[in-house]
Amino acid sequence: MIFSRIAGTGSFLPGAPVTNNDLVSRGIETSDEWIAERTGIRARHLSEQGLKTSDLAAGAARNALDMAGLTPADIDLLIVATTTPDMIFPSTACIVQQTLGIPAGAAAFDVQAVCSGFAYALATADKFIRCGDHKRVLVIGAETLSRIVDWNDRSTCVLFGDGAGAVVLVADERPGILASALHADGGQQGILNATGAFTRGEITGSPFLKMDGQSVFKLAVRVLGDVATEVLTKASMTVSDLDWLIPHQANIRIMSATSKRLGVPDDKVVVTVDRHGNTSAASVPLALDTAVRDGRIQRGHSVVLQGVGGGFTWGAVLLRF
Ligand code: ACO
Repeated sequence: MIFSRIAGTGSFLPGAPVTNNDLVSRGIETSDEWIAERTGIRARHLSEQGLKTSDLAAGAARNALDMAGLTPADIDLLIVATTTPDMIFPSTACIVQQTLGIPAGAAAFDVQAVCSGFAYALATADKFIRCGDHKRVLVIGAETLSRIVDWNDRSTCVLFGDGAGAVVLVADERPGILASALHADGGQQGILNATGAFTRGEITGSPFLKMDGQSVFKLAVRVLGDVATEVLTKASMTVSDLDWLIPHQANIRIMSATSKRLGVPDDKVVVTVDRHGNTSAASVPLALDTAVRDGRIQRGHSVVLQGVGGGFTWGAVLLRF
């Protein structure tokens, strides 16, 4: 049997942290207290020096390859999860392929599932490896959300940040990824979207992300709880077998409500939203890399990664690190 397992993780954050008080100094009518109390966010990184999503993705990928002891020439498939691609086409994955020097002939494509993007991309990569078609896959979540938030809308602009996280997933005879589950409900697209589009030379829709915060909150708590239970059940495991839960890092109150619903103690939940804000598809691999590098997540630990985002989409991956 062929399985897939994570051989290395990496991340990349642009520039210095921008604190809540820095946003106040920039003229946004908000306060550290309002943001921290409702979301747990204290700071985020913003790509303000011209770095594009593909640049952040390449930075994270290099770190993941280093940890795995592999080079770009070893990669035969590259998947980038992003909602903020550099351009309509080519895909961000193809741009990253060229930046990293991954040889021509490897496969490369983007996955668009907003904040669930990394869960979707990792589950996809697992299937490509288990069917035997690919052996060493770079899976990246990368975003420059700061480009599509309305900096005049304080109810959304304070929530998001830029960054990238990556894993190298390799074929192995020992199981790494144990189960995955992906879901969507297109009927909920109205509560979180960015409708901007090009139509015959005209830009239609809104260039900015729009959100009904309270509807998103309720939906996120329900589906994150359900999908974590689903992957554990698929692997005949229970919450007590779990070492770490890495939910999408959108909001500390969503994470706390989810872990409470599942019965996962707070000290088993990896939290980086305080430092990174909501980085959409990058949030889960950024949190994973943080907890791997600070020594919390160790080889053999069982981890549930989960995402939820616009679409609406949601998903989870259960793995043994
Ligand atoms: N600073 C200060 N005041 C603010 C700010 C701000 N940044 N933003 C809004 N307010 C004000 C509003 O104007 C309103 O004032 P009013 O009562 O005088 O009209 C008041 O605060 C309350 O506004 P609400 O929108 O009702 O605030 P709420 O308590 O719902 O909190 C929040 C908003 C934090 C967005 C909440 O709804 C939430 O956490 N939702 C989850 C959504 C989320 O995390 N989305 C992330 C993206 S989706 C994803 O990743 C899955």
